[in-house]
Amino acid sequence: MSEVATSDLMRQYVVPNYGRFPVEFVRGEGSWLFDEENKRYMDFATGIAVCSLGHCHPVIQEALRDQGQKLIHCSNLYQIREQALLAQHLVEKVMGKGGKVFFCNSGAEANDSLIKLARKYGNDLSDPGGRYEIITCEGSFHGRTLGGIAATGQDKVKAGFEPQLEGFKHVPYNDVEALENAVGNKTVAILIEVLQGEGGIHIASEDFLKTALRLRDEHDLLLMFDEVQCGLGRTGSKRTWDDVVSGIEPDAVSWAKGLAGGFPMGAIWVNADRTTGSVPLCDALGPGSHGSTFGGTPLGSAVALAVLQEIEKEKLWENATRMGVYIQDQVNDWNNPLIHEIRGQGLMLGFVLNVSKLEENKAFVDSGEMASLFVVKRLMEASLLTVPAGADVVRWLPALNVSREGVDFALARMRHGLDSLCV
Ligand SMILES: Cc1ncc(COP(=O)(O)O)c(C=O)c1O
Repeated sequence: MSEVATSDLMRQYVVPNYGRFPVEFVRGEGSWLFDEENKRYMDFATGIAVCSLGHCHPVIQEALRDQGQKLIHCSNLYQIREQALLAQHLVEKVMGKGGKVFFCNSGAEANDSLIKLARKYGNDLSDPGGRYEIITCEGSFHGRTLGGIAATGQDKVKAGFEPQLEGFKHVPYNDVEALENAVGNKTVAILIEVLQGEGGIHIASEDFLKTALRLRDEHDLLLMFDEVQCGLGRTGSKRTWDDVVSGIEPDAVSWAKGLAGGFPMGAIWVNADRTTGSVPLCDALGPGSHGSTFGGTPLGSAVALAVLQEIEKEKLWENATRMGVYIQDQVNDWNNPLIHEIRGQGLMLGFVLNVSKLEENKAFVDSGEMASLFVVKRLMEASLLTVPAGADVVRWLPALNVSREGVDFALARMRHGLDSLCV
């Protein structure tokens, strides 16, 4: 008797909240993924910036095996050495600045933790509820929890889930004046993605970050960066903001995605130098104020530490810079009429499509699909996995250790795929 197809099982038993492509991957090796028919795909989606070391990297396998034989889970009611060592690495090697880390399981949960930190800060400083408003940016994406969608500056993620959590103001990205005008007597924090991913690959301007910093100092706010997608080496730097303007020190940062290379893990870092009353900000979330059962388990922490140590040992942010520059140079040389622009930094790149040119293609018009989705599907048929970012941007998020051969394969498939769509 033949087995029921996975797609049928999913249709029957899994909530249909994702639009899924009709392919099932059964194996991964480095930057390659293999489907059930053993067709191989160059993975430049990496689980949307998750598999930072590619698939099934030996250091991840080893950490899973070693820690899996010792201790997989124990409650945060107890001391956890692997968690402490991971926090030490994030503080000393990633931030290079005093602070403390809280662990959770996802980007949305990490951002919820930032939101709670900001509210706690506001409550500790003024009458309870006196200062609670957080300024975020239009086009941002901060996750799918109620806190995450309220913080996100895109209406499409909020629709149908009203009433929204109160206390957020959105300003146009990189609009210095709007940011200045948004600060009021209830403002407690500014939350920024230094390189917006879901919003279509936009990088913060130096002016915008400097203004956020100045407003932080003038109004006693918290400056918080969402590094969930762009952080930990992806943009060619361990701290994305360092590439925009040197000397900025945020008060809190969130990470997830690539942090444990595919093992679910989120985290926030909180600055030791800020205080709330007599307490350092990094101690503001005291016992009983916040938590997460699976945050920083021995297994998750051991895997994340192995991933971060590999990134550090191989200086993979440098590979991200090298490959990113190479890709942008190559693509700019193509002068392909379907590419309006390639933008981004390191290995977080967006191909901005020339939609009016694509509209000359009848198959695209007949599909009724967003340009980005239409192109992503064609590239997938050509064995290259990419991700849409908004309506007209195709995103590349390869593994940080991707080789020149892998990049050349992807470039060739992309070029050929786009050429075949030109009429
Ligand atoms: C910048 C940013 N923040 C938060 C999130 C939410 O992360 P998660 O899906 O792990 O909850 C994402 C996910 O795409 C993201 O890109």
